[in-house]
Amino acid sequence: MEKTVRAHTNIALIKYWGKANQSLRLPLMSSLSMTLDQFYTDTKVSAGPKNQFWLNGVEQSGQSYQRVFSFLKLLQEKFGVKGNLKVESVNHVPTAAGLASSSSAFAALAGAFCVHYGINLSAVELSRLARWGSGSASRSIYGGFAIWQKGIDNESSYAYALDEKPQMDLQLLVVELNKNPKELSSTQGMKQAQTSPFFRPWLERNQAELAQMVAAIKANDFSKLGSLAELNACEMHAVNLTAQPGFTYFEPATIKAIKLVADLRRLGIECYFTIDAGPNIKILSQLKNVKDITKRFVSEFHNVNIINASFGPGISCLN
Ligand code: ADP
Ligand code: DP6
Repeated sequence: MEKTVRAHTNIALIKYWGKANQSLRLPLMSSLSMTLDQFYTDTKVSAGPKNQFWLNGVEQSGQSYQRVFSFLKLLQEKFGVKGNLKVESVNHVPTAAGLASSSSAFAALAGAFCVHYGINLSAVELSRLARWGSGSASRSIYGGFAIWQKGIDNESSYAYALDEKPQMDLQLLVVELNKNPKELSSTQGMKQAQTSPFFRPWLERNQAELAQMVAAIKANDFSKLGSLAELNACEMHAVNLTAQPGFTYFEPATIKAIKLVADLRRLGIECYFTIDAGPNIKILSQLKNVKDITKRFVSEFHNVNIINASFGPGISCLN
């Protein structure tokens, strides 16, 4: 019986948003993330009469099928293995809504591919492979905090664990404002962002912000971590707005949520936000404030669904 591989999604506190090489998915910047306990993907790869991709029980065709099988073809070529494959995957995270489904998806798929063919890899080797499917997937191999070092070529671009079991009091509240799939994928969005006049300045700031984030984590400094994550996310969304042509993943509810976070801070409830390629907001907070923040969001957003996540584990085999 084929085994199922589980990978958890990760949310970047210092974002990856731009490629130096599209086909190898080499990033222009290093990034740092937190792997989440509440969101994950389970994937099984087995031999099939033809190539098939089932997501959440529905057979896929079109772009998402193409993306999976062009990735698997690369892996088959790399390892000199053959055969039609049946991929069965279940997302315990909304798909393509800016909640990082591609990070857990391609980490789990890379892992399930290796399990199917009996290929044993180190975490770093698996991270490199997952990167070919989706850049952020390179970080989902690890639990806790992970860093994806940008590198200069295929060999040197991979993620490693900064701290797999952090003791930090850090909660990430996912406010599900809109779970529908977005119109502009992360891959397309980051390509367009590179046309912004602010893209280069942001890139130049990135390395220093990453170093400051590592220092904040090591010093267990929640305030520094939160304010830096918020700044970094705003910079990413500023390059989107100023791209040629400009665009944004924000919706009116996203702006309302940003203002609510600022309001809460003014009231002495310390929290910060980060936002990815979608309208949903993630709030960084400490355990003592989760109740108050949740209460306020539920009342302002009419019973919006809020998931309270914290640190999740690295990739694993389930059975
Ligand atoms: P997100 O914000 O969810 O990460 P992306 O645009 O980065 O959005 O990636 C979403 C794409 O990832 C989907 O359109 C699909 O092609 C792919 N994907 C999502 N879940 C899976 C899965 N479980 N297995 C394979 N591919 C997946
Ligand atoms: C905003 O990893 O989904 O979530 O490599 O093109 O698949 P591709 O992009 P992807 O982009 C993630 C962008 C982000 C920030 C991040 O996770 O670092």
